[in-house]
Amino acid sequence: MSSVVVITGSAGLIGSEAVRHFTGLGMDVVGIDNDMRGYFFGADGSTQWNLQRLVKEVGARYTHHNIDIRDRDGLDRLFTELGSNIGLVIHAAAQPSHDWAAREPFTDFDVNAVGTINMLEATRRHAIEAPFIFTSTNKVYGDTPNSLPLVETETRWELPEDHKWFGGIDETMSIDSSMHSVFGASKVAADIMVQEYGRYFGMRTAVFRGGTLTGPGHSAAELHGFLAYVMRCVMEQRTYKIFGYKGKMVRDAIHSHDLITAFEAFHRAPRVAEIYNIGGGRFSNCSHIEAFAIASEITGLEARTEYVEENRAGDHQWWISGTARFEEHFPEWKLTYDVPAILREIYQANQEMWKA
Ligand SMILES: NC(=O)c1ccc[n+]([C@@H]2O[C@H](COP(=O)([O-])OP(=O)(O)OC[C@H]3O[C@@H](n4cnc5c(N)ncnc54)[C@H](O)[C@@H]3O)[C@@H](O)[C@H]2O)c1
Repeated sequence: MSSVVVITGSAGLIGSEAVRHFTGLGMDVVGIDNDMRGYFFGADGSTQWNLQRLVKEVGARYTHHNIDIRDRDGLDRLFTELGSNIGLVIHAAAQPSHDWAAREPFTDFDVNAVGTINMLEATRRHAIEAPFIFTSTNKVYGDTPNSLPLVETETRWELPEDHKWFGGIDETMSIDSSMHSVFGASKVAADIMVQEYGRYFGMRTAVFRGGTLTGPGHSAAELHGFLAYVMRCVMEQRTYKIFGYKGKMVRDAIHSHDLITAFEAFHRAPRVAEIYNIGGGRFSNCSHIEAFAIASEITGLEARTEYVEENRAGDHQWWISGTARFEEHFPEWKLTYDVPAILREIYQANQEMWKA
């Protein structure tokens, strides 16, 4: 059986968790990451620390390549070398922030959309049998979730219990006629192309549309990394800016470990051209107000927040992922972390790095 896993964004939150997981299963992992997160978000965002930690931890089963996913020839050379030894591709490198995308729309599109077709084409040419997993986003639905009939409670916005999506929004929500942000639109392009390489070329591709993905491997920066940045601000006594919706916007959060076990399930029984909404669902979700209360309780420190009336363009007021389709296809998969468990782990893992 082919045993090399190619992982892009391998120094990032999701990529690094995937490296640990698949090397742990005895597979060889080839990682692609050029620390472009440092370019996007400055020193807070650099993933160099995570890469160094990773290399120390996993040893010889991991090989790193500093390739830019926009570099078609570089990817082609690597895929030519690895060829049909590739048993799985996980494409998690991206420009991940919708605020940042508007600063440099060409860069955002080149990384997110063109980088994805570069990866698809390299896989089709050299390892067409390998399942191809893409980390898409719930932002492909644009701001359509904001038209849901939300009601205000003391600490959060909420859907009425009898609403069909109370348990989470499923994949039937339209991706059309809404504001996506420049980032959401570049991810839509990539998302559709991954589906197309499944439908058109018969490749076993899967699009995972994540809600908030989180975990201790996140290089928490103001523009990206919700729960990690909440915890970082409380621990370092930085002021966190909350944008709009009275601090009651709801996010579901999935720990990177739980996402990677979903990827493993797909790898073991791959299907063609699937899309899955994936996230913490009803099991793991919170509003900003609730997240800060939990973080304060864990750290024993007061949170410093500043409220900005205007919400971020295209931001969701309420998002809980409906994961029923994935659970139906992979009934053995289970979420193991809820929000307090995630925040506790982020706190414990970053005691050395994040000090007041
Ligand atoms: N974190 C979330 O909340 C979230 C939510 C939904 C979807 N996603 C998606 O999941 C994926 C992974 O997110 P993450 O949180 O791990 O992000 P991350 O920023 O932690 O990791 C991405 C990695 O990709 C690398 N990278 C960026 N551009 C590159 C390029 N041109 N060439 C090579 N490497 C490059 C970065 O240096 C970084 O290490 C992304 O596609 C993101 O859009 C994330």
